Parts: sequence; structure tokens; C-alpha cells
Amino acid sequence: MISQETIDAIFQATHIEDVIEDYVHLTKRGVNLKGLCPFHDEKTPSFTVSPARNIYKCFGCGKGGNAINFLMEHEGLSYPEVLRHLAAKYNIPIQEDQMPEEYEAEKKERDSLYLINEYARDFYRNQLFHTDLGKSIGLSYFKERGLLRKTMDAFELGFATTSRDELTKSAVQAGYKIDFLRQLGLTTEHDRDFFFNRVMFPIHNISGKVVAFAGRHLTTDKKSPKYINSKESEIYHKSKVLYGMHLAKQAIRKEDFCLLVEGYTDVLSLHQSGIENVVASSGTSLTVDQVKLVKRYTRQIKILYDGDAAGVKAALRGIDLVLEQDLNVELVLLPEGEDPDSYIKKVGVTAFREYLQNESTDFILFKTNLILKEAGNDPVKKAGLIKDIIESLSHIPDPIKRSVYTRQCAELLKVDESILVAETNKLLSKNLRDARINQLREGREDHELQQQILEKERQKAVSEKWSEEKTLTDEFQDRDIVRILILYGDRSIEIEQEKMSISQYILSEIQEALSFFDNSLYAKVVTEYGIALANGNQLHTDYFIRHQDQAISQLAIEICSSPYELSENWQKMWDIRLETQPMPEENEVQDAIQALYRFLLKKYQKMSEENLKQIKTYQNDGDEESLLKHLQVQGMLVEQRNKIAAKLNTVIL
Ligand code: UTP
Ligand code: MN
Repeated sequence: MISQETIDAIFQATHIEDVIEDYVHLTKRGVNLKGLCPFHDEKTPSFTVSPARNIYKCFGCGKGGNAINFLMEHEGLSYPEVLRHLAAKYNIPIQEDQMPEEYEAEKKERDSLYLINEYARDFYRNQLFHTDLGKSIGLSYFKERGLLRKTMDAFELGFATTSRDELTKSAVQAGYKIDFLRQLGLTTEHDRDFFFNRVMFPIHNISGKVVAFAGRHLTTDKKSPKYINSKESEIYHKSKVLYGMHLAKQAIRKEDFCLLVEGYTDVLSLHQSGIENVVASSGTSLTVDQVKLVKRYTRQIKILYDGDAAGVKAALRGIDLVLEQDLNVELVLLPEGEDPDSYIKKVGVTAFREYLQNESTDFILFKTNLILKEAGNDPVKKAGLIKDIIESLSHIPDPIKRSVYTRQCAELLKVDESILVAETNKLLSKNLRDARINQLREGREDHELQQQILEKERQKAVSEKWSEEKTLTDEFQDRDIVRILILYGDRSIEIEQEKMSISQYILSEIQEALSFFDNSLYAKVVTEYGIALANGNQLHTDYFIRHQDQAISQLAIEICSSPYELSENWQKMWDIRLETQPMPEENEVQDAIQALYRFLLKKYQKMSEENLKQIKTYQNDGDEESLLKHLQVQGMLVEQRNKIAAKLNTVIL
């Protein structure tokens, strides 16, 4: 595990603008930098980087974060992977905390497995380019198929010679353990090479490490399978890998859709023609994990099928699980006898792109049409078909989308829409039950759920502009207190000639109202600050931005970037020349006091409303004693409220 000191050093050294400039062209705008957002398609830049805060924020799509989040999201890396990446960038030596022995051993083993695959990859490449056999058989085959050297290099293609043990021998001689070679399936139990006389396709994980190989024979021999693959291992789980993803991910994000094809050669061929957002499921039908992998980069998936109907029908079965992940699925069926590789060669890239555009059909409609054709006039078959469609419909989580499809399917199938709806609903509640049971059983996916909630909250925050309505709700006052604490809780303020920090001032003033924080996230921030103060510590903005709790870190980032948002709106609404107005940040004492008073005002109002309700019930019940007590309370509350209102007025004036 990377030590905390190293993590701190990495955070210290990291400048967000350096990191982002590797991916986005940024230009200076005032104190910030702006560029075209890499997370969505836009023509005018709304992607803003704040070097002062070390954060980024896109006002178009709402994405925001620090350098770490950026790399995680943009590159699809894990947290430790990002740390290692940054450590390398800034030349920071990594100290590892001692891990339990079994972890160490496990990690060493995984590292060795990767190293061996790297060794094998280089071995096969060398064979392809530098041996006579490799050149005359392997290389000439690839060339015949129209592959350029740059594509062979990008995909690290290779060649396994006719020798039955050359790789194994040379790897062992180089010091690699035969056990590991066997584990990876490169070496058989009899210590022979598993792959021989085949062209070799390394299979990579998303960060580009080789996890397995596929080898294609070059004979027309029908007895041995055309492709053979490494067996599953500690580092290779077939169902979790998509061929070509490490080279496709950026393009997928940019184009905002993922093209899914069947074969390795299809990926190579399209990539070479400039269609880079392409991956292959490698012969297996699509798995949930593969769909989730795609979902990291886009929600649109376009599946390209070879032009033979048998394959299509088999593949259709797997697609309900794509729908379940709330992805938009479109299908494109190629002309009879073509696969993407042959077709793009035949018609060229422009016509190919046009074909994709014109021939895409939405999955459900595709399925409906296809089976409809098949069923003809057979009523039994048609009943089966309807059941099938209902099944698919019930896997669409978005109710609006679902109802649109239901209507279209009803039309196509010539059945009553209400019947489809009723049947779909039945299945829906069953699916929901099953899902709940599964979740309970597995008690997992916590993380994923959290991510989903975060995403929802983020979207909500973006769509809720600073409308007047919002300023009237409690939530706004609560958030405002949290905003002050995060932005300048650690700065100082002078109240009645006593110097203290803004956080001390605010927390002491709102103590009684603490239980009124409805939003648990805001309550968490306030409580955490309270505990820190009790221990004599102050918390800084960066502390929240780097917070381990992703919800808090996201909130801090939102808050840090909202002044810009505010300023743009103000300008539009009031045409105020903002240059002459101090931004809230430059005016933190005023800002803090106003926020506090607004907060208290709201709370007292709320308390007096609740109290009034009680007074009413006591009046009705004739409970004189309680009534009297609560009338007194009401007097106090109103007095407090007025005092604060008066203070707020003077502050505002
Ligand atoms: P194809 O037979 O269409 O292969 O199988 P291809 O990639 O187009 O290869 P070429 O063009 O004939 O060289 C599609 C995919 O199915 C898997 C592979 O992933 C292949 O890319 N497959 C096929 C196997 O795993 N084993 C096989 O024997 C055949
Ligand atoms: Mn093919």
C-alpha cells in the first residue's frame, strides 16, 4: 500500500493544470484556464480549470473534480494507479507501507505474471519482425490483410514459430518461473509451448498491460480452431475484458459511443481506418462486466453484426443485460457475407461511416422486426415473440424510454398497448424483487451504488441553478453554512473585539440548531468540523477537496466552483459590472455573517412554526399549562427572530 506520506507528497506536487494539459488544450481566462471539455462534445469551451483551487469544473456537463478524479475518470484508472502515474510524472519515490504477508506475496505473483506476458509479447514481436519464418509467414499474412506497420505496433501483434518449446525455454533461461508460465497458459503441462505456428494478438487490460493472448492459425485446416486463447488466470478474466479497449477508450469518450464488433481483425481494420472507438467481445456473447466497462466511457453502444442471421439471433439473447445497465443500444447489421473488416475494405471509411449512421436500428425495434419476420402468420410463434419483447421491455430502467418503446412495439406487433404495459409491469416488479434479493444476498456493489447516488446528486446540483425558489428552502441555508465552513472556516474574524476563526464563530452560534440539518451530507461536514475544532484543529478547503468520502470531496468541488457560476448568472440577469463588485471570496467576513444570519433566521422561523402548531393543539385540547409555556417560548422565538432580522438588515445595508 502506498504510504500516507507519499500520498501527501503527490498531492503537494500535483498541479491540476499540468495534468489536464496532457489531454486538453487550455487557454488563460483571468485567474482560470479554459478549454473544450473532454467529457462531452462542445464547440465553445466551458471546461474550467482553477490552478488556485487545484480543481476543474465543466459548466456544460457539470463534471468536476481534482487531478486524481480527473485521471480516474478520463483514463479509467484506479486510485492507486493514478497515484503511481502522478508519482512517476513528478519524480516522487513511492514508499510502500508494509502489507500483510499474503498481500505481498499475491502482489508479487501478479507482477510476475504481467512481466512474463510482457516477455512473451516481446518474444512474439521479435519473431514476427526479425526471423525468417516470422517475416515470410506471419508478416506477409498481416500485410496481405492490409495491416500497416503502425497498426501492428499499436496492437503489438506477433508471431509464434513452428518450434514447440522455444518460448518456454527462452523464458526459463531468462529466469522466469515455469510455474507462472503454466499458470498463464503459455506453457503446457508437458512443458511445451501452447501457441505455435500462429499469428499472435496480445489482449490488454484497460491500462494497456498484456493479460492474455489469442493466436490465429494460418492454415485452412478445419480441424483445429481458427483462434485459440490463453486460459483464464489471476490476471485474465475473459468476461471482464474487451479487446482493444486500452486504445479505444479516449475515442469512445470523445465520440460518446462505443462500437462493438465480433472479431479481432475487425478492431484492427477499423482502428487503422481512423474509427478508433471500437472494441471486440472476442467471440463470447456480451457479459455484464463488459457492459459495465463500456459504461465507464459512454452510454451509447452500437453493435455491429456480421451479415449472417445465425450469429445475430444468438447475440440478441445477451442484450437484455445491456438494457438493464441503462445503455442505449443500437444494432447495425452488415450486408450478407460481410464482416466489418471486409466491408470497410470494400466501401471505404466514408461510406462505412454513412452505413453505420443510416442502418442503425434501435435494439428493441430491431428485435421486434426480426422475430416478426420469422414468425410470419403463426399465432403460436407470435405469442412467444410478444413474451420475448415484454421481457426486453422490462429490462429498460428508464420509465420514459420504456413507455416510448412500448408504444412503438405495440404498433409493430399490432397488439393493444395496455396489454403490453400490464405484462411489462408484472415482469418489472418481479425483476425488482429479484434484484433486491440479489443485492441483499451479495451485500456488495456498495461502491457502485454510491457512485450512482453521487452521479444523481451531481446532476441534480447542475440542473438546479441558483433560482429564487431555491434560496427560499432550508436546504439553501444549510448549504450556505457548509459553503462558508469549507471555503473560509479557517480564516479569522473579529466579533466584539474578540478574534476567532470563522468556523469557531459559526459553530458556536448554530450549536442549538445543529439537529435541524436535514441533509446528512451537510450535517457530516458540520459535525466533522466541530470535532476538529474540539481537538484544536482547523480544516482547510483542500482538506475537503481531498476528502476520502467522495460525496464530501464532490461537494467541496461544487462549492469552490460555484462563484463562477453565480457570476455568469448575475451578469446575465442584472448586467452588473462584476469587476467593480467584490466577489464573496474577497469579502469573507460579510459573507460569513450574512450566511449565518440567514441560517439562524430560517431556523428560528422553522422553530416558531412548529411551536405554533403545538400551541394550536393545546388550544384545542384545552391544556392550559402547556399552552402558557409554549406561548412564552413563542415570544422568545419571535424576539430572537426579529433581532436577527434586524442585524441581517444592517449587514445587508
Ligand atoms: P471470425 O471467424 O469472424 O474471425 O470470428 P475474424 O476475427 O473475423 O478473423 P479473420 O478475419 O477470419 O482472420 C470472430 C471472433 O470470434 C472469436 C474470435 O474472437 C474472433 O475474432 N473466435 C472465432 C474464436 O475465439 N475462436 C474461433 O475459432 C473463431
Ligand atoms: Mn469476422
